Amino acid sequence: MRASVVAALGAALATTAFASPVAKQPYMKDRFKKQPAPKSWNTDVSGSQYHSSLNLTDIPDTPTVKAPHKNIWATLSTDEAAGVVAFLHNQTELNLTAAADAGSWDNLITVIDLLVPNKTESLAYMAGTGPEPERYAYASIMHNSLEEPYLEDYMVGPLPVSDKTTYSPYGFRTTTGSSRIRNYDADSDRTSPWMEEVASECDDIITELLGAPTANFSLWGIDPLWREDGRIINWVGFWGIPDSVFDGGTLLPQGLYMKFDITTRDPSEWKFLGWLHNYVFYPTTEAFRDAWDKGLIEKTPRNAGMDQPWIGTDRKGEELPFDNLPPPRQIAPGGHRFAVDDDEQYVEWMDFSFYYSFRRDSGIRLWDIKYKGEKIVHELGLNEALAHYAGNDPVQSGFGPYAFELVSGFDCPTYAKYANVTYHSHEISTIHRRSVCFYEHDVGYPMQRHTNGQYTAVTKNIAFSMKSVSTIGNYDYNIQSAYVAKNGEYGYQIHDGLSGSMHDHVLNWKMDVDILGTANTVGFHTVEPKTVKYDWSPVERNTMHVVRSELTNEANSTLHWGENGKTMVLIYNKEEKNKYGEDRAWRLMPHIGGAGMYSTIQNSSNSGPAMNFAKAPLYVTQHHDSEFVSAHPQSSYDPFNPLIDFAEYLNDENLEQEDLVLWFNLGMHHVPHTGDLANTVHQTAHAGMIFSPHNYLYNQPSQQSSQMVRINYNTSTGDSFVTEMLQFGSVPATGLYNLTADNPNYWEYEGSANIRKLPYDPLNPYDETGPR
Ligand SMILES: *[C@@H]1O[C@H](CO)[C@@H](O)[C@H](O)[C@H]1NC(C)=O
Ligand SMILES: *[C@@H]1O[C@H](CO)[C@@H](O)[C@H](O)[C@H]1NC(C)=O
Ligand SMILES: *[C@@H]1O[C@H](CO)[C@@H](O)[C@H](O)[C@H]1NC(C)=O
Ligand SMILES: *[C@@H]1O[C@H](CO)[C@@H](O)[C@H](O)[C@H]1NC(C)=O
Ligand SMILES: *[C@@H]1O[C@H](CO)[C@@H](O)[C@H](O)[C@H]1NC(C)=O
Ligand SMILES: *[C@@H]1O[C@H](CO)[C@@H](O)[C@H](O)[C@H]1NC(C)=O
Ligand SMILES: *[C@@H]1O[C@H](CO)[C@@H](O)[C@H](O)[C@H]1NC(C)=O
Ligand SMILES: *[C@@H]1O[C@H](CO)[C@@H](O)[C@H](O)[C@H]1NC(C)=O
Ligand SMILES: *[C@@H]1O[C@H](CO)[C@@H](O)[C@H](O)[C@H]1NC(C)=O
Ligand SMILES: *[C@@H]1O[C@H](CO)[C@@H](O)[C@H](O)[C@H]1NC(C)=O
Repeated sequence: MRASVVAALGAALATTAFASPVAKQPYMKDRFKKQPAPKSWNTDVSGSQYHSSLNLTDIPDTPTVKAPHKNIWATLSTDEAAGVVAFLHNQTELNLTAAADAGSWDNLITVIDLLVPNKTESLAYMAGTGPEPERYAYASIMHNSLEEPYLEDYMVGPLPVSDKTTYSPYGFRTTTGSSRIRNYDADSDRTSPWMEEVASECDDIITELLGAPTANFSLWGIDPLWREDGRIINWVGFWGIPDSVFDGGTLLPQGLYMKFDITTRDPSEWKFLGWLHNYVFYPTTEAFRDAWDKGLIEKTPRNAGMDQPWIGTDRKGEELPFDNLPPPRQIAPGGHRFAVDDDEQYVEWMDFSFYYSFRRDSGIRLWDIKYKGEKIVHELGLNEALAHYAGNDPVQSGFGPYAFELVSGFDCPTYAKYANVTYHSHEISTIHRRSVCFYEHDVGYPMQRHTNGQYTAVTKNIAFSMKSVSTIGNYDYNIQSAYVAKNGEYGYQIHDGLSGSMHDHVLNWKMDVDILGTANTVGFHTVEPKTVKYDWSPVERNTMHVVRSELTNEANSTLHWGENGKTMVLIYNKEEKNKYGEDRAWRLMPHIGGAGMYSTIQNSSNSGPAMNFAKAPLYVTQHHDSEFVSAHPQSSYDPFNPLIDFAEYLNDENLEQEDLVLWFNLGMHHVPHTGDLANTVHQTAHAGMIFSPHNYLYNQPSQQSSQMVRINYNTSTGDSFVTEMLQFGSVPATGLYNLTADNPNYWEYEGSANIRKLPYDPLNPYDETGPR
């Protein structure tokens, strides 16, 4: 399935479908006035900004702008990353083997990414009161050459590599204080063949039961591995191998599982612990064979037959009426109405601006989001995506990354602007081409409208979107399924011999807010019923009122959204009131779908404290440079001893007028049904938040938009009903538009590119492996 998450910055142009009375305003008289772009934008890229005739060649490129500061959060360049790899290979005590040559007993570098500078330093730089923070990398190294292998994170810098560059273990942003986590899963290259060998001892039974021998299935198991009485347990299942382009292997579980003890690295100590079939456990191969010989093993229906049309995502079924005609589509006849600085990864749209970066573990992050020149959010991004499965078979967990270039005309409109992103893993820098897009679009319903006896006024709802179907950040899942053996309690039967395995998706977001400074407070304004005896009324009246309270301490900052939407969550600086004495706040509110979702399983037998961020919909903490993310990407190696235990961030600190961080969860409870075959649709797998000004301004900011019309009329004038029409400077598009030229060419789809590979050869630093 595909977990689509929208962290909507609805913000000033937040959507509302309700009409509100329009205040009397001095309207702009000069109609069709062309609005100049801000002076800082360079709009003379390849043509004039306005068009009377819409010929695609006339539409200018995206306006450019110079970011006010260097993007200090920018992803490491390939040169920086290659420098770090070369530097680490020079450190003999790390005993590194080039990742491309490393086997399961060799040390290797897995991930290299930017070590994001501390906020303290970043703020000083942005304010012009401090130097540009030095660039540092973190590098994860798998120390596999030991009996007890572990993964360790290092801080490497300053960059670029010079005489001053050093490296040291980096535990500053973990709660254990250590940067090291045990790897109990270092030997899959040897355990896998051994497991297949054990399985094939029963090939005669397997062939009768599943229709083919062990070699025709893939055997794969749980992640994370289980702990049972101090032992490391792996459960593996038999999965069908589809022989088509459709990677529906997760839909082909065969209902046969094996249990293994792989606690040490010594193969002579590995143990096979039994077979599981149809919810019956056989502790030995002899017991399994004995039951088979006695006819006690039931032959249940299989979702076998490897070329299964139902796992494919292609169109199927009878064609729908008119469905082969081209559907409505949006164009951008005025060109892009936003400006970017590609080098600094900086964007300006209307009265918003922000920087962005890409992280290998969590995808896109936004930084220094400003509205009308004032910072509102320091950092916004995904921390961790958890998919917790349930079932009466042991194998339900795990998901894998896919690489994606966005598909123009489908993922993003044809007129979107695209950007590349880069990440560095296993000594290869991978460019995901065109994997972030930026565009404006008409949301499809007006932002505001009002009608009375004399006029109708309505404003278009034009939203700006930044989208990335991530690659590594927001996984693009296939549904994982289970074999349907007595497990109606854990999912629906959705195909022959197939149960859609129920699971929770919880995606944790970090939002480091700075509203009018870093000293902020979270307030709750709750609507409550009330019975009041007014002086003017002889009887009590039942009414309602707003009850105000504030969050004081991390002791009670594990929050749930109020039932019936009754509580508004506001963030403000108490020193910054408006002229009416109200706090100039921003409001965070659930927007769509599974906003506010949290994990059903509160005390997980699989994930332990590694998933402590997923137990409530919203948390507020006092900002600390050391509390950088809610989960460590490597915690799944040892979830009961995670490098970051989010619960430790909630340690009774003061939250009044402090630098605050909000951590909210989005997701869905997913019990796959037949409609999830072959793929889950986004309408129901969708969640988002709105962050919008609340008593922050003195009016509704959409009134600043020119994309509005007022039609005055007089119901008594008969024929000339409309008496006046005002457009407030908006310029309607006219002329012809060449749709042919606007059609994307899907033959140009490129996917991602690997651009530098090591072992580092200074004479030949670039190894263009090309598209893959
Ligand atoms: C579009 O612009 C190109 C280049 O200016 C010109 O050659 C072409 O005739 C134009 N087409 C239309 C339909 O105006
Ligand atoms: C690695 O070591 C070699 C030999 O000492 C030295 O020439 C080179 O500059 C070093 N490279 C880095 C990146 O530290
Ligand atoms: C270095 O790693 C190799 C495997 O790549 C291993 O055989 C050797 O024992 C390691 N050396 C030390 C000193 O750990
Ligand atoms: C952040 O601050 C800590 C504590 O002063 C320091 O150890 C660390 O090097 C700083 N920088 C980063 C990127 O963690
Ligand atoms: C098993 O796989 C082999 C090799 O791909 C193939 O020749 C054979 O037909 C398969 N057997 C069945 C029963 O699918
Ligand atoms: C994106 O990456 C591709 C492939 O490396 C490159 O040709 C293109 O110039 C890049 N685009 C930008 C805007 O950097
Ligand atoms: C929150 O916790 C603090 C400290 O324990 C306590 O003083 C305060 O009353 C609590 N507030 C609420 C709303 O529970
Ligand atoms: C979590 O579950 C384990 C095992 O069932 C139990 O020992 C432990 O007390 C539970 N912890 C909490 C906080 O409920
Ligand atoms: C509407 O039209 C009638 C008839 O022409 C006119 O008397 C009246 O003043 C108009 N009303 C307004 C509000 O313009
Ligand atoms: C429209 O675009 C197509 C493809 O670029 C081009 O072949 C055609 O001549 C264009 N038509 C006009 C009227 O410009």
